[in-house]
Order: sequence, then C-alpha cells, then structure tokens
Amino acid sequence: MPNIVVVGAQWGDEGKGKVVDLLAEKGRWVVRFQGGNNAGHTLVVDGAKVVLHLVPSGILQRGCRCVIGNGVVLDPGVLLREFDALQASGIDMSPERMIVSTEAHVILPWHRALDRARELAAGAGKIGTTGRGIGPAYEDKVARRGVRVADLLKPGMLRGKVEEALARHNHELVRLGHAALTVDEVMAEILPLGERLGRWARPVVRLLHEALGRGEGILFEGAQGTFLDVDHGTYPFVTSSNTVAGGACAGSGVGPTAIDAVVGIAKAYATRVGAGPFPTELDDALGERLRQAGQEFGATTGRPRRTGWLDAFMLRHAAMLNGLTHLALTKLDVLSGLGPLRVCVGYVDARGASVDEVPAGAEELAAMVPIYEELPGWDEDLSRCRVWEALPPACRAYVTRVEALVGVPVGALGVGPGREAIIARDAMFAA
Ligand code: IMP
Repeated sequence: MPNIVVVGAQWGDEGKGKVVDLLAEKGRWVVRFQGGNNAGHTLVVDGAKVVLHLVPSGILQRGCRCVIGNGVVLDPGVLLREFDALQASGIDMSPERMIVSTEAHVILPWHRALDRARELAAGAGKIGTTGRGIGPAYEDKVARRGVRVADLLKPGMLRGKVEEALARHNHELVRLGHAALTVDEVMAEILPLGERLGRWARPVVRLLHEALGRGEGILFEGAQGTFLDVDHGTYPFVTSSNTVAGGACAGSGVGPTAIDAVVGIAKAYATRVGAGPFPTELDDALGERLRQAGQEFGATTGRPRRTGWLDAFMLRHAAMLNGLTHLALTKLDVLSGLGPLRVCVGYVDARGASVDEVPAGAEELAAMVPIYEELPGWDEDLSRCRVWEALPPACRAYVTRVEALVGVPVGALGVGPGREAIIARDAMFAA
C-alpha cells in the first residue's frame, strides 16, 4: 500500500477530510501531523454531518487505525469530548485504533486565553486566528518550555511546569486585561483530563515504522493549507505550523523516503478565513453567491469565508512547495450556473510588470493584480455524475485547463458533499 500525504493546496477548508476518508477506505493508518483544533473537517456519512477537529478523518473507516502525531498541538478537553461524541455515535474509539503520541504538545488554558486576548488587543491588525490557542502553544514548544502529553501523565512534575508557565504568562494576560490564572484552577482542569487521556497515549514512532515494514500504508492527513504554512504562507497571516507536505515527516517521525505520493486538495474556486491577502477575492454579489452555493462558513468558528476565483498561479506554486503528484479538485458542483468562469494565470505588480513567482510575504502578495483567463461555465447539476464522461464538456474543459496550468494531474473531482460524490480519474482514488 502506498504511503500518501494529503495536504490543502490553498488556505484550508479544501475538503481534505472527504478525500482522506475515501483513501482510508483501503484500511490503512491515518496520521495527523500538525495543527490542532483550529482545523475542522466536515464529513457527511449516510446523510449525517460529522465535524472532526482533532481526530483523523480515517476514524470513520472501520479497518483504519488513527494516530495523532508529535507535530500536533492538542487541547485535551476538546480531544476527549470528540472521543466521547464519536463513541456515542457507535464508532470504536479503543486505544487499539486511536493512538495519541506522548510527544505531542498540549494546549493549556493560558494558550487559549493569550490567543484571544492578543487578537482583541490587536484590533484592526489582528490575524483572525481561530482563538483556540494554537499559536501560543507552538510558541511554548519552540521556546522549549512546552507541556507534552507525556508531562500531562506525570502529576508531580506537571505542577512545577504549570507554576513556571503562569509566572511567565500571567504578566501578559493581566496587561491585556484578562484575569490572572491560578495554578490550582489550571491543575483542577487538566489533571483529570491527563488521567483520562493516558489510556490512548503512547510513543508512536516505532509503531508507525512497524506498520511501514508490513506494507500497511500510511495516510498523512494535513490540516489547514499550503498558504497558511508558517514558512511558505502569506506571513504573518498564517498558522503556526508547517502545513506543507514536508511537515508530515517532522510531525510524525517518518522519513521522506517512505512517502510515495503527495495529494494536494483544492477547491474548484478559492476561499480564505481570517485576515491576509487574497488576490482573486470576489468582494461582490458573485462572491456572496459563491459563499451561499458552497455553504462557505467555517466548520470550527462558523465565520463566513471569503470567496474568489481559482488561482492556478498560486496552485502551481503549491505544487512546487509540496511536491504534488496529484491534485484533487473539490466542490466542482458549486460552479454550476455561475456563468463564465475566471481562472488566475499570473500576476502583474503595482507597476504593471508581470511577475514570475508568487511573492513570499503578505505585503508583496497584497500588491499583486491577478491576470485572468475566462472559460465558459455550465449550468448542469453535477451532483449525480460519477464518471468523467458524464460531466458537461465545459466542465471537463475547465478541469483540463486547470490541470495544464498547474502542471499536476487531477486524480479526483468532488461533485457534492456526500462521500460517494466523487469522480475518480486515477486508480488511487477509485473506491
Ligand atoms: P490559528 O491557526 O488559529 O492561529 O489561525 C491563524 C490563521 O489560520 C487564521 O487566518 C485562521 O483563520 C486560519 N486557519 C486556521 N485553521 C484553519 C482551518 O482549518 N481552515 C482555514 N483556515 C484556518
């Protein structure tokens, strides 16, 4: 079985969960390697909506084992609530199939409080974070003072760590107008969580390598998207982890030579939540139509997503950053009836000179003016199409043009919210 990395090729919310769910049907391992409960994967199974924030999407496939890798920052309360909800809906959440790395870092109450207080204080300059404490938790991790799952399981040591952290972070919280947190209240919240989480926590590197040795196949499930990557995204309007495919290795303990394929997921148009540049944004009635047709509201925060045309120039950059072997284009059905469609094929800068690369950094990108190519639209409902040939010719021409512009084959197409609403063009995606 191949080992496949699945990443978002835009700004997140591309529908990765659905593709992972499809690929996981083959009974493999699914590993989350970065991010935390800033992610929200909405899956529709037998007509029922399931939203996952931390648990890998493979959990819905019976034969699949799921791992939360070391690169994730996890909020133990959120994780345990998700476990309980899944268990209550009849899904086996036993430690044999759901494993949490002891090396993963933990989001603690001060991380959430700092994230929200800083965003409030930033006013117009805010990033538009999800407020889940992601950035502050990664800050503590790289500053080498973080609390890992393994620490959560050792109450004696944990108290000292919490005391140290609060001595540092309470100053900032109080300066931002938030009440100081006490060691006792934090311990009262996290001790029972650690006690419960212990059942699922264990080192995972060897476990994954044994699975590799048996050829069982691992799916690495990315969260957020390429242009939210802390190094390669529209900095500083990014998340705090490496969302590109390379992050799968560092965030799980599996080396790059084990990876066989990298699938980039992109919507057939573009969306972004939170602040930051978005060259092809449609800030008009058409953008609103796209938002309603695609139900573009955040799975985690409920915020309306910003919408715009597909940016093939950016996707080509994403193909380089991730080493994409395949693209999956989702929500193609949403474009039905929209009239002529535009695809961004390049940018000119403020002086009208064409640029040959997507600029790194938010300020430079914000100054770009997109160059569009117009393609004929289609009116047919695609939601019942299950084979490539059933798609209207204009729709096929759109996909083929995107494929040529990006330089990566489109292996799968999403034509509706259900897990069955997928057209496979490559054997890897065939059910
Ligand atoms: P944070 O990850 O909560 O720190 O937020 C940083 C930026 O990433 C904000 O613009 C968020 O809206 C965005 N973001 C974080 N997670 C997701 C996601 O799962 N989908 C889309 N955007 C996200």
